[in-house]
Amino acid sequence: MNVLLIGSGGREHALAWKLKQSPLLTKLFIAPGNAGTALCGINVPIAVDNFPALAQLVRSEKIKIVVVGPEDPLVKGISDYFKEQDDLRWVGVIGPDASGAKLEGSKDFAKQFMEKNGIPTARYRTFSMAKGEEPIAEAEAYIRSLNPPYVLKADGLAAGKGVVILNDADQAVSELAAMFGGKFGSAGKKVVIEEFLDGIELSVFVLTDGDSWVLLPEAKDYKRIGEGDTGLNTGGMGAVSPVSFANEAFMDKVKERIIEPTINGLRVSGIRYQGFIFFGLISVKGEPFVIEYNVRLGDPESEVVIPRIESDLLELFSATAERKLKGKKLEISEESAATVMMVSGGYPGDYQKGLPISGLDMQTDGIIFHAGTTVREKLVVTNGGRVLALTSLDANWKKALEKSYKTAENISFDGMYYRRDIGFDL
Ligand code: AMP
Ligand code: GLY
Repeated sequence: MNVLLIGSGGREHALAWKLKQSPLLTKLFIAPGNAGTALCGINVPIAVDNFPALAQLVRSEKIKIVVVGPEDPLVKGISDYFKEQDDLRWVGVIGPDASGAKLEGSKDFAKQFMEKNGIPTARYRTFSMAKGEEPIAEAEAYIRSLNPPYVLKADGLAAGKGVVILNDADQAVSELAAMFGGKFGSAGKKVVIEEFLDGIELSVFVLTDGDSWVLLPEAKDYKRIGEGDTGLNTGGMGAVSPVSFANEAFMDKVKERIIEPTINGLRVSGIRYQGFIFFGLISVKGEPFVIEYNVRLGDPESEVVIPRIESDLLELFSATAERKLKGKKLEISEESAATVMMVSGGYPGDYQKGLPISGLDMQTDGIIFHAGTTVREKLVVTNGGRVLALTSLDANWKKALEKSYKTAENISFDGMYYRRDIGFDL
């Protein structure tokens, strides 16, 4: 069967790498892809939100399954778009409708959903910049009723930058004013203010057909640019899977208190959800709470989660599209995986693109997943902040990590940077 994968990051390279191994695959197209996905299939230069052009490709190449990597096209309604085309209604889109994508697209919606379904999460209130109204006074009173630090979240998508955590109440109030004033554009017209949860984070993923679900390996990512989890937030600087504190007792709580009520809640709300759900969780003294929902796989979590899946992912996608996931089991490798992100100098601030990358042809013990790369005049060059994810598998994550760091020694591009302390807190 022919498959279209949408996106261009490390997550998409990991998905393409896995799909390519499926005996069910005939042709794989990636839109727009990167220099790594080009090794697994055919890259097509179509933007992730150009729905008419993507639909045309699906028609001309008789594509059966469309796998949506990033959240943006989901929030903009790519799944709904395919269902609205008479001749494409039968295409299986892996990713929810816009109604389900609101779990990620609106923090306020996600919080209301959790409240309604009794899912553990931080206490919160939402404030909106209503017409001609000044909600600041009420919001300020709420901020002052909480203990620091204060967590402020722009309601809409803000490229991963819409969450601000501050220790000082006065600063929190000014930040709120800045958000209402347009700091995050329309994403900040509504702001969720919530209680700070002190604990350790992890990412849990399921693939669901709306009724049944399968649990993927869990992972932990490292979001800050600096070692010891310091400095600015990034898309993620590395990841490991499995996560030692996610033992059976903890995961049973996650299933019972979080996953089941989420799937049931979606069904009861009449939301047709076929795709991945990414639970951004925090363990507070062994009790799981939801920090956020995402409606896709994580990046760089995918680069450790997918290599540990032994089952045929395309078979699972077909079952998801046909609502036949019930009874499917996921075979997961006993090995641990670790990935290290090599990023451009200056990231997450400004950085240069188009720098040649050397060492990609070297023999390695691991897998080199491309994130921000492209091919220019037959050379692989940098094309984003996060450039490569070096994944390795071994008996434990420390050994896996050592292999990734070995691979890193052979790769170089101007300004290259990576964290050398992935997994430091485990
Ligand atoms: P989000 O975009 O919702 O994942 O938030 C970004 C990051 O902010 C999370 O990964 C957490 O590290 C942190 N965060 C968000 N909400 C809270 C909270 N209520 N308590 C503690 N940390 C939080
Ligand atoms: N690594 C976090 C994310 O994909 O949102």
